[in-house]
Amino acid sequence: MTERTFSIIKPDATRRNLTGAINAVIEGAGLRIVAQRRVKLTTEQAQKFYEVHAERPFYGELVEQMTAEPVVVQVLEGDNAVAAYREVMGATNPKDAADGTIRKSFALSIGENSVHGSDSQDNAKIEIAQFFTDDQIVG
Ligand code: CMP
Repeated sequence: MTERTFSIIKPDATRRNLTGAINAVIEGAGLRIVAQRRVKLTTEQAQKFYEVHAERPFYGELVEQMTAEPVVVQVLEGDNAVAAYREVMGATNPKDAADGTIRKSFALSIGENSVHGSDSQDNAKIEIAQFFTDDQIVG
């Protein structure tokens, strides 16, 4: 079933000029980039986006890292896009990520893991709505 997911190319990747390389992996996996914008997140935006992790010990560092440099926010569309993108990203910790995944190829550490992708259809809708209006997504 065709669906959409939300993606962030994180500061560790934009800093190293990896936006195009990561987009090539995304498109190579059959996902279409139907919306994309480069943005420097405010502390408030990052705190709200990661609010489910607010009680976790890494929350402060996560917000700091996500606001340190620009990110690229994206909407990806394709067959089972949420699961498909999670497979392409690889495990959260790059040490556990499979060969050929974005995190295995590019991530520096569990915190600086190059990309974020939604973990469910419900969260994809919530996350997309935080950054894009319907008319900005062109499928
Ligand atoms: P992401 O998919 O963006 O969602 C939450 C992020 O927290 C995660 O990717 C990691 O980059 C970051 N993070 C940092 N430390 C941890 C940890 N110990 N466990 C899980 N996520 C972590």
